[in-house]
Amino acid sequence: MSTLPHGGAVELSIAPRAATDADDDGPDELLGGSGTGPTGRPRRHVPEPALLDQHGPARVLAMCNQKGGVGKTTSTINLGAALTEFGRRVLLVDFDPQGALSVGLGIPAHQLDRTIYNVLIERSVDIHDVVLRTGVENMDLLPSNIDLSAAEVQLVSEVGREHALLRTLRPVLDAYDYVLVDCQPSLGLLTVNALAAADGVLIPLECEFFSLRGVALLIDTIDKVRERLNPKLEITGILATMFDPRTLHSREVMARVVEAFKDTVFDTVINRTVRFPETTVAGEPITTWAPRSAGAKAYRQLAREVIAR
Ligand SMILES: Nc1ncnc2c1ncn2[C@@H]1O[C@H](COP(=O)(O)OP(=O)(O)O)[C@@H](O)[C@H]1O
Ligand SMILES: [Mg+2]
Repeated sequence: MSTLPHGGAVELSIAPRAATDADDDGPDELLGGSGTGPTGRPRRHVPEPALLDQHGPARVLAMCNQKGGVGKTTSTINLGAALTEFGRRVLLVDFDPQGALSVGLGIPAHQLDRTIYNVLIERSVDIHDVVLRTGVENMDLLPSNIDLSAAEVQLVSEVGREHALLRTLRPVLDAYDYVLVDCQPSLGLLTVNALAAADGVLIPLECEFFSLRGVALLIDTIDKVRERLNPKLEITGILATMFDPRTLHSREVMARVVEAFKDTVFDTVINRTVRFPETTVAGEPITTWAPRSAGAKAYRQLAREVIAR
């Protein structure tokens, strides 16, 4: 495995300011046991995650929504980092040619010679030689860059084209507890590959009026993949993101989401905050950039829910 210097990737003139104690967003309403949560429901009890004395085989979770800008990449980085705080070993898979996951972890993906594209397409390339360590202990990355956009076309003529990602990941599944696949915003062949390789799907859903449009199509695709390619596939949960508790609009959308998807909706809700764009500039997860912020606490609570499901 090769290691890249951390944080050298994003060439921006904005110097990220260091996190301070002011980042503590006050009393931790998220962990309080009783009362109604932001979903409008009473919070369900989430048990303390058990410690692991051995690792693997990994649960593969596809982070999926064909709409862009809903928090897939942000949730992949921060859920992954939060899972490591509970002693889990995590592999993040950048499965979007935009490479935002790689860049968000401070890795200069556009400069890499070998990425997930090479492991997918060239049989001679060993995944162990392409996986990178990140700045977060026990969290590795299978990086991607624009090369991956060619894979979709090249895979079409392959035998077993829907299972290319599963074949790629198989040699490393025993080394991790969770593999999180950050999908691109489409329901094309790459996303079908992610669903075919996954045990579960986590759907980030932004608390905006139009967000429910398109979810029916996504669920339809998940149903088809379950019927035809991957009988074990389930919806792990729907994660409400970009929630603004001060607006009636956000609360109304939340009520609709809970009405439509009921218990599938995580009790954890991710609020809209400028902290998340800041962490992208910093090239690290919010759990290390602003460990006491509400955003970090929310992703830790999400990790507990994911472990419990
Ligand atoms: N909870 C949030 N509050 C505010 N901004 C957010 C939040 N989550 C993500 N963002 C920002 O929104 C943009 C899109 O998020 P991203 O995770 O890249 O979405 P996707 O991967 O679904 O396209 C990014 O600039 C990100 O920093
Ligand atoms: Mg993304």
